Amino acid sequence: MKSSKVRLDKLLSSLGYCTRKEVASLIRERIITHTLNLPLKSDTKVSHDEIRFEGEPLDPPAGMVILMHKPVGYVCSHDDGEGRLVYDLLPPRWRVRDPKISTVGRLDKETSGLLLLTDDGALLHRLTSPRHHVAKIYEATLDRPLRGDEAEIFASGTLMLNGEKSPCLPAKLTIIDETHVTLEITEGRYHQVRRMFAAVGNHVTSLHRSHFGDICLGDLKEGEYRILSTKEIPC
Ligand code: URA
Repeated sequence: MKSSKVRLDKLLSSLGYCTRKEVASLIRERIITHTLNLPLKSDTKVSHDEIRFEGEPLDPPAGMVILMHKPVGYVCSHDDGEGRLVYDLLPPRWRVRDPKISTVGRLDKETSGLLLLTDDGALLHRLTSPRHHVAKIYEATLDRPLRGDEAEIFASGTLMLNGEKSPCLPAKLTIIDETHVTLEITEGRYHQVRRMFAAVGNHVTSLHRSHFGDICLGDLKEGEYRILSTKEIPC
């Protein structure tokens, strides 16, 4: 599909490379160039793929989905006051992209694993909407041995969490050994996995998300990320 044309200054500022005002001087310095060396001005209508910044193709246009392996200790927040942010693991200019990149739901600070981020508001809404029931799989280590009835309770759809008005939807517990399990849930309530185990008298000592829908981390190392191809993007 041929990408549509937009003003050069609008394109580069929306991708976080520079302000609209800075574009003219960056053209003069040949930091911004055209692939065919055509002359450029701030208001030239261009398509994304015909522009180079410092000789490199531009970052992906709006509509990207990022798969990240979140390390423990990073927070899913835009607020700098909260410590190390998952956004710190991305190129700095992505912090000022418009539309803004946000996490698809949240993993808490002490949880590692698969995190999606996107600048596609409609997709974000679909993937986090309680109506869509995307399956998420977590690997948990428990403080105490399982007592034996947890799988049945989690599957029953009757488990009430402290302070909530409706029970958790049925969830699938797979026992690896008496303190190691995987749990598949289709909701995204606040600290849900930790609270589900607290509700059955246990405590999660480490938590890692391995799957989100059909997506898994593959060989992505902690702190690394990659952009999903169109085919990989969940719908
Ligand atoms: N459940 C939790 O308790 N924490 C997370 O980060 C995700 C699910």
